[in-house]
Parts: sequence; C-alpha cells; structure tokens
Amino acid sequence: MEQRTEPSSSESVSPAEVRPGVAGGAAREAIRATGVAKSFGEGDARKVAVDHVDFTASFGEMLFIVGPSGSGKTTFLSMISGILRPDEGQVIVDGADIWKLDANHLADFRLNKIGFVFQDFHLFPRLTTAENVAIPLILKDQEWSASITQARAMLEVVGLHGKDEILPVKLSGGEQQRVAIARAIVGHPQILILDEPTASLDGDTGRMIISFVKEKILNEKCCIVIVTHDARINEYADRIVHMEDGHITATDEGTE
Ligand SMILES: Nc1ncnc2c1ncn2[C@@H]1O[C@H](COP(=O)(O)OP(=O)(O)O)[C@@H](O)[C@H]1O
Ligand SMILES: [Mg+2]
Repeated sequence: MEQRTEPSSSESVSPAEVRPGVAGGAAREAIRATGVAKSFGEGDARKVAVDHVDFTASFGEMLFIVGPSGSGKTTFLSMISGILRPDEGQVIVDGADIWKLDANHLADFRLNKIGFVFQDFHLFPRLTTAENVAIPLILKDQEWSASITQARAMLEVVGLHGKDEILPVKLSGGEQQRVAIARAIVGHPQILILDEPTASLDGDTGRMIISFVKEKILNEKCCIVIVTHDARINEYADRIVHMEDGHITATDEGTE
C-alpha cells in the first residue's frame, strides 16, 4: 500500500515549482492528457464521446470544464481519474502514466491521489453518513474507530454536524452532495474531481459549496477539476475549458 496522502505529507515542494497565483508564473503540472479518445458502441451505433483531447491542469488551480450535455465531460473526467480506460492517448497525473499502471497500482492511484464526487453522489444507502465518509480511510487500512472519528470531523467541516448517524436517504440533495464531498476530501487527495456538483442544489447552496471547496480544500498541492453547467459559479474558476462534441473548443482565464 502506498503512503497516505496526509496534509502534513513529507513531500516537499520548492517555491519555484508552485504556481504563485492565478496571474501566472511556473505551475507544477497535475494532469496532462494527450490525444485522449473514447468511443462507445460498434458499427452504426458507434459514438465518439471524447475525440483526441489535449488538456493540462496545474496544482493550485481550480479549473472548470463546461459544455452541453453529451459533450463528453463525464467520460473525460473518468479517463483522467483512472476510472475509465481511454481507447487512445496518454494521461499523466503527477508524473505517473496512469494507464500504464497494473490493476493494483491503478487502484492504489485512485485511492491515494483522487477524490471523485459523482454527479449522482454514489453514496452507500445502507451505511450512515459517517460510514460513507470513512470508506476511503478504511480502504487505506486505517483503523475503524479512528476512521469514523475523522469522518465525523469532516462532516462537521462540510456543515453536517449531528448528521453522522443518519442514512443518506434522510438527507436533502444538498446534504447528500456534502457527504459525497466529505468522502472525496477526507483522505486529502491531490486531485479532486467534481462532476456537476451544483446540479441538484439551489444557487446559494451551490455557491456555498464551491466557495467552501475553493477556500478550504484548494492549496498549492491540490488540483480541483469541476464539471459544471452552472454559470452562477463561474466566478470561482481560475480557468474555464469549454467542451463540445468530444472536443475542447476554447479556454478562458477565470474572472478572479
Ligand atoms: N457507458 C456508455 N455507453 C454508451 N454511451 C455512452 C456511455 N457513456 C457515455 N456515452 C455517450 O458518450 C457521449 C458523452 O457522454 P458524457 O461523457 O456522459 O457527456 P456529458 O458528461 O458531457 O453529458 C454521449 O453521447 C453519451 O451518450
Ligand atoms: Mg456528465
């Protein structure tokens, strides 16, 4: 098992490698995708979901991917996070060519480096919220009661104090979303990926979640990629990548 990604990780980053701010300067590369492609189906039913995309993201940045439904955003996120193998192309995450890893190392990569918030949360319905949040820690062989304690603390951080013994079905959509975020960040992943995190939230809750993620989670050792349709949260983006029909069509610097 690889070393845990704790906040006080001994890994050191020299100032020269750190992106000093949104305005520019050297940025340490978190993700580099080159020529990444994925199709589904065969023959007449074949659909190109992602068509040879090149993409980079840096540590210290919060990057949005926007585009119409069906443009390949979720497929692309799955390929950069070690969930879905591309048909073609290469994905380098923090220096590792992830699709060259064997199955065990790929599983370790997902567990140790990636936090993924799925569009429909993927919470385990029969586990309490604290147990849901503790799963990544338990998978890293951390002791049960310490994992639950850490999970409770994380639920407090996302504003769900006192809801740790509740089953997800008893929570609102916004609360379930926060449980999913707590689970994604509890292991301090270097790469945090959120697929349409505000889709089921009202505007104020959505902004609150995104500003929370930016203020409390983003740091120079972390890269956050968010797929969104929600123009109301664009102000939080350091960079906005537009996707259409399987292609990246444009990139804007954010407004901050
Ligand atoms: N597992 C799958 N099987 C077949 N087609 C898929 C699958 N996943 C995605 N697609 C197709 O790939 C295209 C891109 O989908 P997706 O990545 O989910 O787009 P987005 O997240 O931008 O809405 C769509 O046409 C979708 O129907
Ligand atoms: Mg999607």
